[in-house]
Amino acid sequence: MARVALVTGGMGGLGEAVCIKLAALGYRVVTTYSPGNTKAPEWLASMKNLGYDFHAFPCDVADYDSAQQCVATVEKEIGAVDVLVNNAGITRDMTFKKMDKPNWDAVMRTNLDSVFNMTKPVCDGMVERGWGRIINISSVNGQKGAFGQTNYSAAKAGMHGFTKALALEVARKAVTVNTISPGYIGTKMVMAIPKEVLDSKIIPQIPMARLGKPEEVAGLVAYLASDEAAFVTGANIAINGGQHMY
Ligand code: CAA
Ligand code: NAP
Repeated sequence: MARVALVTGGMGGLGEAVCIKLAALGYRVVTTYSPGNTKAPEWLASMKNLGYDFHAFPCDVADYDSAQQCVATVEKEIGAVDVLVNNAGITRDMTFKKMDKPNWDAVMRTNLDSVFNMTKPVCDGMVERGWGRIINISSVNGQKGAFGQTNYSAAKAGMHGFTKALALEVARKAVTVNTISPGYIGTKMVMAIPKEVLDSKIIPQIPMARLGKPEEVAGLVAYLASDEAAFVTGANIAINGGQHMY
């Protein structure tokens, strides 16, 4: 039976590429969308036209109860989750001087609490079955910090702390937990950056002088999800065109 991969935020730029890659490799791919996202049926139809039969369920990853309910529905309707990709995320960029509590909280809840909310209902099952993959999509800005992103950089750095601690706890049961830290990838999240800031401050810092492609990140997700990656755990893998080396 094909493995089940649950990708949060699969209708976004990066998530869509991950869903397509995993489906092409034979996984049964399930994704989530925000409960208020009215474009989900349209996205599913467009994917079906391309030959991808994805399952999608509403889920506010920032909300614990919503996440538990979503995973329960996935397990009932599709099957136990073998691969979890914690991909859903948001930015609320502003300098710290302007940062207010709602924008701090929104990013911490959506980008960091979500990792707990989604991993909690799938992890015990992976351990019991003796196989699992948890892949957390962090960011270069969690590694190096970014102007205007105290909230986002804190949440993304926190994801990797979670990865390392959980990786220790589940390693003996062949469950791996890893972080991917992409640099700037050409999705709508990056297109929201003011063009003059992108052109003058960000692209010049990327030795490859271009944005990354969602498919490039999807290839790394596919590797970490595979059997070949069984010995990789607790890692934070950078994919950033040389922007940050450590
Ligand atoms: N580095 C250095 N200086 C910067 C800067 C940067 N990255 N971004 C802005 N500044 C400077 C501006 O040049 C400006 O300088 P002056 O006052 O000397 O002119 C000053 O900061 C204020 O800038 P703004 O006028 O733009 O101020 P603002 O309050 O309207 O906006 C901002 C500030 C929200 C930080 C805005 O500049 C911005 O959105 N910057 C981009 C932030 C960013 O890189 N976000 C990443 C999003 S993509 C992502 O997060 C995906 C991922 O994981 C990689
Ligand atoms: P995107 O196109 O804006 O997609 C974000 C996705 O997250 C959307 O599918 C969105 O779903 C979902 N989402 C947001 N809030 C949610 C919530 N509360 N509950 C459920 N789903 C929610 O962004 P992207 O560029 O693909 O980013 C995907 C991930 O990669 C994020 O975690 C981001 O931080 C990370 N990342 C991106 C870059 C980059 O340069 N693009 C770089 C490094 C890391 P709805 O549309 O249904 O709300």
